[in-house]
This record gives sequence, structure tokens and C-alpha cells, in this order.
Amino acid sequence: MTGQSSAAEGTTSPPTPDGVPFLGNGLAFSRNPVGAIEEWASLGDIVRLEIPGRTMYLVTGPGPIEQILVADHETFTISPAQRETFRGIEDHAVTTTTGERWERLRRALRPAFTRDAIQRYADRIVETTTTYVDEWEDGERIDLYREMRFLSVNVLADAMLDVDIRGREEVVMDAADALVDRANLRRPGQLLPDWIPTPTDRRFERTVTELDAYVDELISERRTTGLGDDVCSVLLDAHDAGDISLDEVRHNVVAMLLAGHDSPSVALTHAVRLLDGHPDVRAALVDESHDVVASDRPTGESSAALERTRNVVSETLRLYPPTLGVTRQATEAVTLDGHELPAGAQVLCPQWPVHRDERFWDDPTAFVPSRWQQPSDRPEYAYFPFSGGPRNCVGAPFARQELTLVLATMLDTVELDVSVDGPLTFTPSLQLRPEPDIDATVTRR
Ligand code: HEM
Repeated sequence: MTGQSSAAEGTTSPPTPDGVPFLGNGLAFSRNPVGAIEEWASLGDIVRLEIPGRTMYLVTGPGPIEQILVADHETFTISPAQRETFRGIEDHAVTTTTGERWERLRRALRPAFTRDAIQRYADRIVETTTTYVDEWEDGERIDLYREMRFLSVNVLADAMLDVDIRGREEVVMDAADALVDRANLRRPGQLLPDWIPTPTDRRFERTVTELDAYVDELISERRTTGLGDDVCSVLLDAHDAGDISLDEVRHNVVAMLLAGHDSPSVALTHAVRLLDGHPDVRAALVDESHDVVASDRPTGESSAALERTRNVVSETLRLYPPTLGVTRQATEAVTLDGHELPAGAQVLCPQWPVHRDERFWDDPTAFVPSRWQQPSDRPEYAYFPFSGGPRNCVGAPFARQELTLVLATMLDTVELDVSVDGPLTFTPSLQLRPEPDIDATVTRR
């Protein structure tokens, strides 16, 4: 480990873990992203990393995280790595824009995420899940993560876009895979100059073309059927009012389809896996869905009362946060927790080590959903699965409701007996996607 005193008075440079020549800390990161991040986080709340092509500051203290996301959010813009990952697919979306343009796009999306809208989506989430799960046969062995992806794409498309996407899910999933691949630190072409086309680039071009064509189809269909209250209509309304361009409509529909299914499917996979390992918790959830739901099937009205299920969702997002972390770039020199970061510094605030930090969590690695029943005085940013501040996840309320209702509906209908083929490792990319095969055997109730 190395560290230096800084020129700026009263500040020091953060420690840098030892790395290997040329690849710096990138090799450890790509081999075992969560293991490496945990180890580095133990060196301090702010650690400087040398990753090929860039210096990155790992920030794992709730105070500095809150400073970046909330208090000093105007000093921290989105990272060049994020813009680069989404280049050619979401250049006109909320995910990559900044300033007045980003504010305009968030405003245009707002009607699709009001409390009423979220309530409206609930019944459709339950309906889509019921239809999907009904197709699993008793004794069938399913690829759990893959099924959760298909289910999440269907839930998102039906509830938020009012489209039946059955048979076309892979158009969305392939584009998401291409994005994850592009940002994957383990990808062999990662170190090549941009002008050398790699198989990843070619796959990206192909999947993006297909997804763009699908989204164009959705938009013209919406024009033919007339605008409703789905997210595509909400964006077209804003376009008709002269607030956003057609490219902005397109790229934000793409952003919804991609951001809106990937993280929920990772979270659902872990939730089912964790429940399988904790039959007492699972039994309590089954009881809850029977008790709360008079009709034996959860509905929109009942989601608020599914308290234990909501605690399982919170605990799953704590132990297995679906995203690698939140990235930002400092627009000017800034002092964070006594350390001086130069203008242009790139920061990564990873949820994993913070969500498992024993300074803030009792028995941090244990799955204890009941911990969410107790009030706590831990710092707010000891838990931030959906990020925070003005640029937080726009889909957070939808996602929380979706995860709660999908779990309750599944638990009410089937029991899933899970097996994981090998140690639980993760893709070093945007999402912490599980790498081993995760199968489940279905028993119908
Ligand atoms: C478990 C589920 C989810 C998790 C853990 C999650 C997490 C996140 C995180 C960490 C960010 C980064 C925010 C930042 O840079 O500060 C983000 C951004 C975003 N998420 Fe989610 N998300 C989830 C589900 C969803 C859903 C269901 C949607 C859409 C319906 C969605 C849409 C978005 C969008 C559009 C952004 C970009 C926001 C912006 O930059 O203004 N997410 N999400």
C-alpha cells in the first residue's frame, strides 16, 4: 500500500493498494470484483485505485458518499465511463445527460412515477407474474436468473409501457447483455484502442439496431392506438408539448427497458435464493401473503401490508446490491473526508462493502430481514441500493413495489428449490450479475 502527504493544507492523499505493473488494481478487480472492493475498503473510506486507463477513487464511507450524491452533487457529474458505456444507445436519455437537459428529461418522466401511477401498475405486475409463473410445470427445473430476466422484462413492458412483449424479450435482453459486456472489466478487448473493432463492438451494433427498431415500432403503435398513461405516452406528450425531441423519447424508452429490467431480475434471483436457504423466513412470507390477501392472491392494495415481504426485499438489496456502485466525476478539486481529490477525479461508491460494514450493521453478512423492523440510528448512506440525491434511481418506487408483489405472487403459487452450481461470483460490470448457473425446481402449491 502507498500513500502520500498532499500539498493542500490539512489534507492527505488517500492510500493506494498495491497492484501489478500496467494493470494496476484492475486485475484484482476483474478477477473478483466484490472481494477486491471489500479488501480495498478495509484500507479506508477513500482509497485511490489505478485501473488501466484511469485513476479511480473508491469511496465507502456514508458521510463522503452523502457529500458526493447530495450535499455537493453539483460538483460531481456523471462519469465519462458511464457516458462511454451508453454511447450509441442512450446518448439522449436521463442516464447520460447532464444539466438543464437532464432536468428536462427527469421532468418529462415524472408523470410515469407519481404515487398514483405506481399504484396503478400494481395489479398489472401481479397479473403478469401470475400468467408467467402459471407456465412453470410441477417438477420442472428452471434456470432461475434467466427466468427472472424474462419475467422482469414482461413486468416492465406490460406495467410501464402497456405492451405485450412476449416473444420479443430477447431483443431487450441481448442489448442489455451487450452493454454489460462493453463495461465488463474481464473482456479481452477492454484494453484495445477504440478504433480497433472487437466482437463486443459488432455485437453491440447489431443488438442496438434491433432494439432501436423495436422501440420505433412501439412509438408508432402508440401513435396509432392513441396516447394513454404509460411511460411511452408520457414521453410523447412531452414531445408534443415541445419539451423533448423524438430522439429523447426513443432513448428514454430504451433506458426504461434496460435499466428497468436488469437490476430487478438480479434482486429477484437473490431473494428467491436467500429464501430457499431460510425456510423459516419463507414460511412466514407464505403465511403473510395468505393473511394479507383475502383473495389468496396479492393485489395492488395489499402491497403496503406485505411488511415481511418488503423487509426481505430491503435485506436482499442490502446483502446483494444489484449494481456495482454509483460513479461520478469531480468537476473541480474537492476535499472528501480530509483527502484532496483533483478536478476530474473519478469516484466509485460501491454499495457492497458499505452495506456489509460492521460499523453500521450487526451481524452484517447474515440474512436477517427482521432487522428492518427496528428503528436505527445508522447513517442514511450506510444503505443506498438506489443511490441518492437528485440523480437517484428514478425507478426506485416502481422497483420496490415490483419486487414485493412478484415475490408474494410467486410464493403464493410455487415453491422453488434452488441449487447454485459453484461459488457465487459476479460479473465485474455495471450490474453484479451472478455468474454460476442458478437452477430451481418448481413445486406447485
Ligand atoms: C432493484 C432494482 C433497481 C436498482 C437496485 C436500481 C439502482 C439504480 C442505481 C444505483 C442508479 C444510479 C443512480 C445514480 O447514478 O446516482 C439507477 C439509475 C437509474 N435507474 Fe434504477 N435501479 C433499479 C430499478 C430500476 C427500474 C425498475 C427502473 C425503471 C422503471 C430504473 C430506472 C433507472 C434510471 C432511468 C436511472 C438513471 C437516473 C438518472 O440518471 O437520472 N431503475 N438505478
